[in-house]
Amino acid sequence: LNGAVPAVAVASQKGGVGKTTVALNLAYAWARRGLRTALVDVDPQGAIGLSLSKRLSHGPGLWDWLHGRALRPLMVKTRLEALTLLPAGRIPATESQAFQARLEDGAVLGRLLGELEDFALVLFDTPSGFVGATLGALRASRWALTPVQAEPIAARTLMRTVETIGALRREGAGVELLGILLTMVQRGDASSAAIADDLWRTVPRHLMLDSHIPRDPLLLEASNAGVPVGLLRKRPPAVALEFDQLAAELEERMGLHGKEGPDAPVSLVD
Ligand SMILES: Nc1ncnc2c1ncn2[C@@H]1O[C@H](COP(=O)(O)OP(=O)(O)O)[C@@H](O)[C@H]1O
Ligand SMILES: [Mg+2]
Repeated sequence: LNGAVPAVAVASQKGGVGKTTVALNLAYAWARRGLRTALVDVDPQGAIGLSLSKRLSHGPGLWDWLHGRALRPLMVKTRLEALTLLPAGRIPATESQAFQARLEDGAVLGRLLGELEDFALVLFDTPSGFVGATLGALRASRWALTPVQAEPIAARTLMRTVETIGALRREGAGVELLGILLTMVQRGDASSAAIADDLWRTVPRHLMLDSHIPRDPLLLEASNAGVPVGLLRKRPPAVALEFDQLAAELEERMGLHGKEGPDAPVSLVD
């Protein structure tokens, strides 16, 4: 089921942990780093469209492709040449279950990836919980990226994620956990720091990412303004750099670096 394009599903058991925020800002960071990236929204609530603009949340998308429309005209170009979006489309509430059921076995999204072979990377933003569309995105993807909030129940929800990915692999899916990303870390807050330390200590080292996303009101402001945080101000806020760091760390894990390796300087001229 793994398409030719490497796909990353941003998925977690819990809602409100920052999946959509991570998916959008990471896609933006990758595109800025020169990787042709498609961000595909498989959340029937249309999280990406909602966070970006009224036009997108009311416009067509994946839902319409499922109903026979050609894919390319449904894809939305952005001000970055390398970043393209596929919104979920306007899915009637009564059809949300049907939408999820269509995506669940991963075959349809595998077919979608087959139509996106000119992209270097595809990112799926998924609904919370291991429900139909999320399972489908995981089955079709090479990688899963799991944001987890720095809060007391984090460890328990992480177990569910690791178990789910294990179960999918046993049934033959190729998906691997790319990493666990701490989000909404309150720097300088003792309990947030204690939870973060605890996770870094207890979760196997290779699963925890070094990068983490701080709690920053500018991320909320950016999602209200409908932009990646790097576009919130003419002078990009510091938190935008966290996503650049994350993008670079993930590239390393995904083996996207050339034979020079991650710590070699990037040559300025060829
Ligand atoms: N690191 C962060 N700091 C502050 N606010 C955040 C952060 N990450 C997400 N948010 C805000 O929290 C809310 C939930 O985030 P969202 O990305 O929609 O989560 P999910 O997709 O997992 O449900 C949104 O309003 C978003 O703007
Ligand atoms: Mg979301």
